[in-house]
Amino acid sequence: MESLGGAMIGRESERETLSAFVSDSGGQTLVLRGETGVGKSALLHHVAHLATREDHRVIRAAGVEAESDLPFAGLHQFLYPLLSHIDRLDDAHRATFGVVFGRSEGKPPSVMTLAIAVLDLLSLAASQTNLLLVLDDGQWLDASSAEVFGFAGRRLTGSSVKLVIALRSEIPSRFDTAALPELHVPPLSEQDSERLLDTHHPGLDPQIRRVVLDEAQGNPLALLELPPFLSGRKTGRGAEELSGHQGVPLPRRLQHLYGTRIKDLSDSVRAELLRGALDGVGAGREAGRAGGGTLYRMMDADEAAFSGLLDIDPLSGDFVFRHPLVRSTVVQTATPNERRAAHATLARVHQGDIERRATHLAASTVDPDDEVAAEWCRCARAGGERSGRPPEPRTVGDHASGCGGLPRRRVEPVPPLPPARRGPRAPDGGHVERLDHAAPDHARSIGRR
Ligand SMILES: Nc1ncnc2c1ncn2[C@@H]1O[C@H](COP(=O)(O)OP(=O)(O)OP(=O)(O)O)[C@@H](O)[C@H]1O
Ligand SMILES: [Mg+2]
Repeated sequence: MESLGGAMIGRESERETLSAFVSDSGGQTLVLRGETGVGKSALLHHVAHLATREDHRVIRAAGVEAESDLPFAGLHQFLYPLLSHIDRLDDAHRATFGVVFGRSEGKPPSVMTLAIAVLDLLSLAASQTNLLLVLDDGQWLDASSAEVFGFAGRRLTGSSVKLVIALRSEIPSRFDTAALPELHVPPLSEQDSERLLDTHHPGLDPQIRRVVLDEAQGNPLALLELPPFLSGRKTGRGAEELSGHQGVPLPRRLQHLYGTRIKDLSDSVRAELLRGALDGVGAGREAGRAGGGTLYRMMDADEAAFSGLLDIDPLSGDFVFRHPLVRSTVVQTATPNERRAAHATLARVHQGDIERRATHLAASTVDPDDEVAAEWCRCARAGGERSGRPPEPRTVGDHASGCGGLPRRRVEPVPPLPPARRGPRAPDGGHVERLDHAAPDHARSIGRR
């Protein structure tokens, strides 16, 4: 997970709420909602720490932009550490997980059937030790997992399982309609902002200090990131640049700061960061990686660490993004060609992971390509069988640039495209069928094999 440096400042009321949440004997769910960089992940670290101290077992997962189209990528993260309990479930629940994790064939379970199986599994795992599930960046959780956890999250009362979810307020989330109890995370007070700033950036020029406080408006990420940006420029120039963005929401202005640092990197390091970003590096869910594959490892990126874009994970020694916003900015500032090249490399890295490989292949190609169509159909079939909801034909990079994933391009010469392929996901495993329509010869032979 992206790094959390230093002790928490302020947040007395939130800490009190979280402390009561952990000590409460019953199971329950709590959503932390707030703007980018306001300190949700910091509070999740805090609640995880409290729960560990109170002998809870803590399992962490995170939504990842790059995986938000992979069915059950999030569910897999939570359940991976609990796999040993699955054998103790009854036959019906075991069969449900068998289908969902592609171990056996069968009809995809409904959200309710799966959520009940998940509740059963969680209760079993919590029978000896209280369990806390911590979900960061819930706005990027894949739809299938979000539905299951929305359903399960409303039914934890009476169990020893707690679920805490962080959501960015400015991004629509699949949890928005889940009717879960919420705690709004506001900006820090003026006094706490000053403490945070003075702790991390002591001795700032008073003029710059004032500009930082005014611009950050209590946002901790901005309080930490603005000083180097402003101090690195001639007095006044950084402030002018920032005030040139007045009216632009703070997260966008922070992206601008990261964007300027990214632009200064050498081409090879930028490409390395892009591959890491498109593979979701540093989102803290390596252990439960859907499909069990390994993550891309960023190498030779000291330059980016030096400019404050990357940190080094103290456990693995690998480079990780300093903040999720760096990851999104890397993707958004890349050109479509750069993104395609990165996806092509990642498709080779994930040879053994059909869904991930297909997703990257799809995003790596602009012209019709039989290999990609074949992979995509295999993937759609596998995903549809597991969830009744195969991956959407788009990726983060494509999404950001507005250019669709390859299956859409692959079949462009074959009109007309059914409108549903461009809209929200199909409620059933309909991608194979739709590809059949669009690319009859190739897709049919593969999709129905
Ligand atoms: N109360 C606090 N005291 C000290 N540092 C904090 C506090 N709140 C947040 N921070 C630091 O500010 C930075 C941004 O916080 P954090 O990553 O938790 O924000 P976030 O709300 O999770 O953002 P995002 O929506 O992008 O995930 C982090 O480096 C974090 O350690
Ligand atoms: Mg966060």
